[in-house]
Amino acid sequence: MEEIERVALEEIEKAKTPEELRHIEVKYLGKKGIITEQLKGLGTLEPEKRREKGMALNRAKQVILEAIKRQSKRIVELQALSEGRIDPTLPGITPQVGHIHPLSQVLEEVIEIFYSLGYYVMDFYEVETEYYNFEALNIPKDHPARDLQDTFYLEDGFLLRTHTSAGQIRAMRLLPPPFRAVFPGKVFRFEATDASHEHTFHQLEGLMIDRHVSVAHLLSAMMTLLTAIFGKDVGVRLRPGYFPFVEPGFELDISCSVCEGKGCSVCKHSGYVEFLGCGLVHPNVIRAGGLDPKEWEGWAFGIGLSRLVMMRYKVSDIRWLFSGDLRFVRQF
Ligand code: PHE
Repeated sequence: MEEIERVALEEIEKAKTPEELRHIEVKYLGKKGIITEQLKGLGTLEPEKRREKGMALNRAKQVILEAIKRQSKRIVELQALSEGRIDPTLPGITPQVGHIHPLSQVLEEVIEIFYSLGYYVMDFYEVETEYYNFEALNIPKDHPARDLQDTFYLEDGFLLRTHTSAGQIRAMRLLPPPFRAVFPGKVFRFEATDASHEHTFHQLEGLMIDRHVSVAHLLSAMMTLLTAIFGKDVGVRLRPGYFPFVEPGFELDISCSVCEGKGCSVCKHSGYVEFLGCGLVHPNVIRAGGLDPKEWEGWAFGIGLSRLVMMRYKVSDIRWLFSGDLRFVRQF
């Protein structure tokens, strides 16, 4: 069957006139055509074979018909061209050009900032083990963050990482201290979506490991970061925050730029949006990273990159980011 198809396609491609094409069509698909004859012979086969061959024959018929159609169009075009009825110097159809997604634009910019500050930029796995996502980060088995409600569990102890913090342990095991590194990426939460929540969103984790690290270092790094990202003063609010992998831990909120702090659905009418979680790395986490917490300390932060894009461009619904709607992307 394949051989018949191949030969037929070759003949079709060589055809130069509508007549030649018609001959080929008759030869294969006419009343006494090659394919037609084979179709007629199907009745004598066993049901199983009949089905199989029938399908193959119909497929071949389809392929040949389409090829004939295509060639027929080409012949008409070539004829028109040779008779000077087509002006080949007319401009063609402009191909559609893509557009860099605002998330990628912001990510590139933020990476550039950290890169110039001497950070490694790393990329870790979206599919993680429970160990890296929870256990090693001092998140015990009964912690609510492990709830089925929040996590997409896969088989065999794997899951979709719920935060980029999963990379902290990997970074510590890879890089000799002292070091600083950022690792951006997609994270996943099994939760209902609304204007400010998506099941898939982007974070950027930062980790710095050194001797004698304090909250003062952390805060000054966060302020440097915010100034660089926003290029102007933004209202911030620092609150104590609980993350099992840092101690002490903080949540840093920024003034909502969608509503200028007046209150909207993005900031849940509070005027502020959670922007990042941060804190001093918990000794248990340092240990899980293979380092001695008596010698090494550190700070870590996790930025909601999607939130950053929303604040930067005043996007009022996170779901736009993954809408796939080009009209959205082209605005940026
Ligand atoms: N992983 C935390 C989250 O997803 C953010 C965080 C990162 C907090 C690093 C503290 C330190 O919410």
